[in-house]
Amino acid sequence: MKTQIGIIGAGPAGLILAQLLHLQGIDSVILERKSRNNIEGTVKAGILEQTTIDILREMGVGGRMDREGHFHNGNYFQFNGQRRHIDLKKYSGGKQVVVYPQHEVIIDLVNARYENGKDIIFDVEDVTLHDIDTNQPKIRYRKNGLDEELVCDFIAGCDGYHGPSRLAIPDRKEHVHFYQYGWLGILSDSAPAADELIYASHDQGFALLSTRTSILQRHYLQVDPYDDINNWSDDRIWSELTARTKTNDGWQVPDGPINSKGIFQMRSFVCETMQYGRLFIAGDAAHTVPPTGAKGLNLAATDVKVMSRGITEFYQSGSTDVLDRYSEICLRRVWKAERFSYFMTRLLHTDPKFDSFERGVQLAELDYYTSSEAGLSTIAENYVGLPIQWGNVGDIKSLIN
Ligand code: APR
Ligand code: PHB
Repeated sequence: MKTQIGIIGAGPAGLILAQLLHLQGIDSVILERKSRNNIEGTVKAGILEQTTIDILREMGVGGRMDREGHFHNGNYFQFNGQRRHIDLKKYSGGKQVVVYPQHEVIIDLVNARYENGKDIIFDVEDVTLHDIDTNQPKIRYRKNGLDEELVCDFIAGCDGYHGPSRLAIPDRKEHVHFYQYGWLGILSDSAPAADELIYASHDQGFALLSTRTSILQRHYLQVDPYDDINNWSDDRIWSELTARTKTNDGWQVPDGPINSKGIFQMRSFVCETMQYGRLFIAGDAAHTVPPTGAKGLNLAATDVKVMSRGITEFYQSGSTDVLDRYSEICLRRVWKAERFSYFMTRLLHTDPKFDSFERGVQLAELDYYTSSEAGLSTIAENYVGLPIQWGNVGDIKSLIN
């Protein structure tokens, strides 16, 4: 089998790339390890920043997001029993975020793929990459017990943190940072906590009150990453959520039956470089962030926007300018999102090793970022998503285009 772009992975990165390329008349084949039901049903994070909202709309897949998503102009930071509003729209020049869960984005993108008359090859096994330093890279895989080969012009490695693509880049530098914090996430049949998300810092640990629908909520608690979910009864979860998020005026989080719960560890990870020969990696294959800054899916979307522009320019004019600088353009923005996610994580979580002085400084930082114009602006512009800077690093014009 032959195609222009062989895409490994049908997560947000692979599916958005396929749609962007399709709109430019560029053919692709998507190979996915899991089943369609599996990728469409897995619960993941749920905030799309303005940059991603724009990409989905430009691609013609923003219709359901616009109808069913919950658009937020701000969020709340909470500490010492006080709730402070961050007006994201005001401090970012009119930008917004939307609560629209990742699996809904996946459903819309898979539907768009089929509406384009294109396929996704699900349930593939043993994917390997070959000849990536030639003009005809190949992907080999097994499907239904048969060995198959896909010959392409380029390979897009969109196969997440555990996929094989990144490992095919020789001499890469991997930067990894582990946190001693884990998140316990729940889905509950309960009323929304507020009109916008609440990020709460408390002596007992961080809590996040998010939402899905008017009757289904997504909340998180900071826990020990090695804790066992069986230690967390529903009563214990609600009592911790209540203690960490109640306000001095007597407000308490609405509770209800919990229908799913799990603990995950947090990690920051960056792979330098994101390209080798005819292989380009994107999304979680190249970098991961702790969820505190709500950046994971959004970074995947902007990586593949850069990749699709590079590939389009190559087919239209033969220029490899953007492709040659793919990693440089992406990493410049990736490092800033990594910085913001790390900053938000440290700002909001309770470090068990902190002494009372360090907690005092953390509370002063929370007060500063939620009450100074400069503090509010820096949170807002990062939370709604920084622009892609297409120019060369060091080229001052690139800061504004
Ligand atoms: N062969 C084929 N597909 C694979 C392989 C493989 N060997 N390994 C992984 N995949 C698939 C996974 O099954 C998954 O569907 O690649 C896809 C990668 O998707 P994501 O992990 O969602 O990564 P990405 O598209 O980069 O999106 C990043 O998704 O997981 C969240 O928190 C993450 O929000 C972030 C966003
Ligand atoms: C979510 O709703 O899943 C969510 C929201 C904001 C975050 C992380 C996760 O920062």
